[in-house]
Amino acid sequence: MSLDVAVSIAVEPPSAAPYGSRLPDVFSGLYDFFSQEGGKLVEMTWAQHSFHESRRWSATKMIDAIDLDKLSEADKQFIWNAGRAELTTKPGADRLTRLADKECRDWQDRDPDLAAVMQSCGTWSRYWNEEEAHHEAVFNRLSNLLGLDQISNDTFIEFRKVFPDDDMLRTLFLLAVSEITAAVNYGSCARRAEDPGLSALFKQVAADEIQHMRYFLAFARGLVDSKQYKAKDAFAVAYFFLRENGDLVGSLREKIEQRDSHVNWWDHLEVSGIEDLENLNRKQQLIFSALYHVTDIKVDSSEQVERKWMELVGC
Ligand SMILES: [Fe+2]
Ligand SMILES: [Fe+2]
Repeated sequence: MSLDVAVSIAVEPPSAAPYGSRLPDVFSGLYDFFSQEGGKLVEMTWAQHSFHESRRWSATKMIDAIDLDKLSEADKQFIWNAGRAELTTKPGADRLTRLADKECRDWQDRDPDLAAVMQSCGTWSRYWNEEEAHHEAVFNRLSNLLGLDQISNDTFIEFRKVFPDDDMLRTLFLLAVSEITAAVNYGSCARRAEDPGLSALFKQVAADEIQHMRYFLAFARGLVDSKQYKAKDAFAVAYFFLRENGDLVGSLREKIEQRDSHVNWWDHLEVSGIEDLENLNRKQQLIFSALYHVTDIKVDSSEQVERKWMELVGC
């Protein structure tokens, strides 16, 4: 799936089609599925599993299709950086598994349909973790084959630090934005890579990241549909990224936050041409679409996001 095709799918409204008629795809309309259609977690799990299985690919075969001698310095730099960035996805997925299960149990008596949405998210986190394992393995293996600076055991362990916990809607929206950042960066590398094997790998990983984003938005929408979570929290996270000199600008920011709690390598990219204006615009547009997908509120500028956020918090 090309990034553009994936992006157009990402902005489709949630579908209320019955489960039986669906092709393998991201399962949307989650809260309605449980609260109005009498949906069962075992059906949800099959939908997740069949979609995961339909999208599997081989890291070994992808590497075999790349002509290492044809790679440019820019390609190599991005492969090296991507390997580091992908190391931080496992703690993110481990944390999501734990947090979703905790939230599921907290809601079970008060709102069992929301508890089922949470459990769907925790269950899907195993597929997310496995798919991110492909990304981490493929880029770090390529780095080693290219003779690039190896990751020390201390660095590896440092990058496995788990993110601090936060509200679940904020967490899901933040994860969706991280996937947007990754997808746009990989899509950009796919377009500029001259080796067809490397370009295909970047396209494949970008498509995975878009699919992850769609899952995070589907879960976030389920939380908002339950009315137990408020749209303002998705807007708060969007504003955090979109504000002037905010996190979306990545490593180009004047001042990068120093944290001891966890590592976000997308903050540290040392690759020219990835964080250019075109990519920044693409990321912004995807965040606006993501807000619409989760909240039904349309915005098309950072200023509108800020204004709407203020309005939602009652300022
Ligand atoms: Fe990834
Ligand atoms: Fe991802």
